[in-house]
Amino acid sequence: MEEKAKINSFINFLKEKGFIYSGSEIYGGLSNTWDYGPLGSLLKKNLKDLWINSFIFQQKNNFLLDSSIMLNNKVWEASGHVEKFNDPLIDCKKCKSRFRADHLVEENTQIKTGNLSIKEMETIIKDKISCPKCQSNNWTDVREFKLMFETSNSKTKSDLIYLRPETAQGVFINFNNYKNGKFGKLPFGIGQIGKAFRNEITPGNFIFRTKEFEQMELEYYFHDLGNGNDYFEEYVSVVEKFLKKVGIADKNFRLFEVPKDELAHYSKRTIDFEYNFPFGWGELLGIANRGNFDLTNHSQHSQEKLNYRLEDGEVIIPSVIETSIGVERLLFSILWEAWTNKTENYFPIPQEIVPYKMVFLPLTKNEIELTNKIIEEIITPSKVFSNILVFEKGNIGKRYKHADEFGIPFSITIDQETKSLDGEVTIRFAKTKEQIKIKIKELEDFFFKN
Ligand code: GAP
Repeated sequence: MEEKAKINSFINFLKEKGFIYSGSEIYGGLSNTWDYGPLGSLLKKNLKDLWINSFIFQQKNNFLLDSSIMLNNKVWEASGHVEKFNDPLIDCKKCKSRFRADHLVEENTQIKTGNLSIKEMETIIKDKISCPKCQSNNWTDVREFKLMFETSNSKTKSDLIYLRPETAQGVFINFNNYKNGKFGKLPFGIGQIGKAFRNEITPGNFIFRTKEFEQMELEYYFHDLGNGNDYFEEYVSVVEKFLKKVGIADKNFRLFEVPKDELAHYSKRTIDFEYNFPFGWGELLGIANRGNFDLTNHSQHSQEKLNYRLEDGEVIIPSVIETSIGVERLLFSILWEAWTNKTENYFPIPQEIVPYKMVFLPLTKNEIELTNKIIEEIITPSKVFSNILVFEKGNIGKRYKHADEFGIPFSITIDQETKSLDGEVTIRFAKTKEQIKIKIKELEDFFFKN
């Protein structure tokens, strides 16, 4: 299948099965917005829970935060976003298409734009590059376009406020709360999951780049004794383990060490994890050594000392290793892995995050009562089971097919021989289509082990 057709059939499948719908559909849509349905929203939730487990609970001294989306404007001045978080834009005067100037230069010449000024990019485009849409050479000047979404904080619209473009700043400005509240003995980490907003010029590629998205970010604070790379490597391996858990094949991701002259203004070192998306390799997540850029700047702008007293009395400003993962990008890669590994209808979402782990199938309506009894008396009281579905109607083959397409690893059939809570049910494995009989009383043990 041609790549574009393949992506479209992937998106259609996700819509049809209840993973992802396009946004505001009944009003004709709103481009590049997406809604997550019964399976997609659960998958997202499970993914975020797994992140909390992997990056907070399973790491010593890491804690969770839930900070506001709207922050005092001074936060964004201190962080450098007001001054530096812009995209350089240029328009074709003839066909009115709009482009990122840096993308145009890099895609059409061998020149890297990391160190170029706006004027330099403009000169290169006007001298050397035609409009990719209409081939004319009639460009506007390059202008800087603010990526932060603006809204107002009052009814008079006079009070400008930004929606956060990253969750990280909420973490930095809460440094003292954690330190003073006994949750901040170095080294320690603060992580949070939440919405971020960017007024992207070129959103698209399904859920890869949107204006509203979620981030899972961890800021790990440490005393930099020249050991920044050790913590950096530690988190590279935490991320690699996490990717394995969510089913990303080794061959489908790679690490890209961002060259010094292309680093973001706050970064001393960045590694991007790239994924082999259906449209090509693209950034999945990033790990950065932000040094003490953020705490230093917030200390200066807020007049509040964001520092740390070591046991010997020395006062330092801790450094930070950041891991920043876009929820939707990771979701895209997880769904794409499952899609490309789909066999005999089974959409193999890794069991740790699958929306529904089991579905109950009463074979005929005579078994519905017993099924409800099993759920009420065996399943619900036990902590082993979670996210249960019941498919009551339809031909059993079709019900298996639905279960497989939803990625449900286990189907449990109750038939006329089951009779009572002392009876047996059939468990069917979606992956192998193998079926086994098992006593209802042994279900808890089975799911504990699986
Ligand atoms: N705090 C650092 C930071 O925000 P970033 O590279 O700008 O760094 C981190 O973003 C991650 O957030 C990206 O690797 C990507 O997964 C996700 N992300 C960024 N912009 C996005 C967008 N417009 N749509 C979806 N995800 C995005």
